[in-house]
Amino acid sequence: MLRLINLSKEYDDKNVIDNLTLEFPQVGFVAICGPSGCGKTTLLNLIAQLTKPDGGRVAFDIPNPKISMSFQEPRLLATRTAAENVNLVLGDKKATLPQAEELLYELGITDTLLYPDELSGGMKARISIARALALKADLYLFDEPFANLDKENVLLCTEVIKKCTSNALTVAVIHDTSLAERIADKVIFLK
Ligand SMILES: Nc1ncnc2c1ncn2[C@@H]1O[C@H](COP(=O)(O)OP(=O)(O)OP(=O)(O)O)[C@@H](O)[C@H]1O
Ligand SMILES: [Mg+2]
Repeated sequence: MLRLINLSKEYDDKNVIDNLTLEFPQVGFVAICGPSGCGKTTLLNLIAQLTKPDGGRVAFDIPNPKISMSFQEPRLLATRTAAENVNLVLGDKKATLPQAEELLYELGITDTLLYPDELSGGMKARISIARALALKADLYLFDEPFANLDKENVLLCTEVIKKCTSNALTVAVIHDTSLAERIADKVIFLK
């Protein structure tokens, strides 16, 4: 599904990603771990092709794969409700709003009419997860999806992510190494 071939990225003469070659499985849940500043977000941005590499390349074995990403910051639209933020990726039509709401209910969000500034950090994190899951994709990228969540919600979100992405490849940056080892099929450690 996804291969990184001699991938390199530098910022201000610092090699953040240094000649990285990696092969990912076709489907499954892959966690990326490593200390703060080691390049985890940079790597996800390279995979999503939001950042251009300085060397090497990101290769997919299908043409134009559909990629859905949840960012380290939730990036919700302030003028839209929780449900509307999720519905944006479904085409922003009234008919798909129940689908967006259903996904939020699954992730434990029942106050779907609240606006982002009325939500807790953990609620915003789960809305960001829901928005990524609402899209049917070949590759799902999650950057620290569980950073603001308590243990119970981490387990709930893991279950929903795995259910919704069972036919796809999921790559998630997870800060907590022991959690990553518990829930992922494969863990990649970045130095
Ligand atoms: N746009 C940029 N311009 C300059 N330097 C950058 C840029 N983006 C990232 N960096 C640098 O690249 C390094 C890796 O950053 P990155 O955000 O990928 O780390 P991270 O592993 O995701 O960290 P964290 O766990 O804190 O989120 C850091 O030293 C950072 O300062
Ligand atoms: Mg990061």
